[in-house]
Amino acid sequence: MTVDSEEDLEGLKKCGRVVSSTLAAMGAYMEPGMTTAELDAYGRTLLDREGARSAPQLTYDFPGTTCISVNEVCAHGIPGARVIEAGDLVNIDVSAELDGFVTDTGGSFIVPPVKPAHAALCKATRIARDKAIRAVKAGSKLNVIGRTIEQVAAKAGYTIIENLASHGVGRSLHEEPGSIPGYYDPTDKRRLWDGAVITIEPFLSTGATWAEELEDGWSLTTPPGIFAAQYEHTLVVTKRGAIIIT
Ligand code: CO
Ligand code: CO
Repeated sequence: MTVDSEEDLEGLKKCGRVVSSTLAAMGAYMEPGMTTAELDAYGRTLLDREGARSAPQLTYDFPGTTCISVNEVCAHGIPGARVIEAGDLVNIDVSAELDGFVTDTGGSFIVPPVKPAHAALCKATRIARDKAIRAVKAGSKLNVIGRTIEQVAAKAGYTIIENLASHGVGRSLHEEPGSIPGYYDPTDKRRLWDGAVITIEPFLSTGATWAEELEDGWSLTTPPGIFAAQYEHTLVVTKRGAIIIT
C-alpha cells in the first residue's frame, strides 16, 4: 500500500504494535519442553485480545496463527507437536490484520544454552536488516536492499536464501512492489516511492542458498547441519528514510 494520510500511518502503527508485542511476548514465553502448537496458541490469545487476525491464515489458509520454524526448518513452519529443545534456533513470524491494515514481523530466537555459531548468525542477520532499512528512502532503487544484505552476509561469511524475500505489505500480506530479493539483482530497475509500505527480512544462512519445501506443503528447510536466521520489520518508505512500523 501507499501511505497518504495520517490515518493510514496511525492504522498501520496500531497494527504494527500488536504484531511486534506478540512476537516479543512469544519469544519470552518459549521454553524447552513446550510444543510449537502451545507457543502458537499463546500467540493466538494475544492477537485475539487485540481483535487482530492471523494474516497467513486469512490469506493463504495457513494451518496455524503464526509461523514457527525450528532448526532445519527456516520459514513457514507449521505449529504442531514438535517439542522445542534446549539449544534450538527458533524463528517466529507474526503477521496480522487489524482494522484493514496488515503488518508483518519476525525474528529468530536461540533457546539456551546459546551456541556461539547461532549467536553469530543471528547477529549478522540483524545487522543486515538494520543496514538495509537505513539504506532506503523514496526514490532509491529497490535493489539497494538486496545489495546491502548481500554485503553484510558476504563480509560475515554467510550465504543468502535466495527464494525467501522481502515484499510489499500494508493492506494485504503480499502486494506491490511484489517480491524484493535478499541478494543483489543489478537488472532490477524498480524504485521505491514515497509512502511505500514494505518488509525488509533478510534470511542469512551458514551455507544454504535455497530453501526446499517439505511434503507438508509449507515448511521450508535447509540441509542437515545448515542453519538460517531471519529478522523482519514492516516499514514505510519516505523522502527522509524509513519509518519502522513494527
Ligand atoms: Co513475516
Ligand atoms: Co514478510
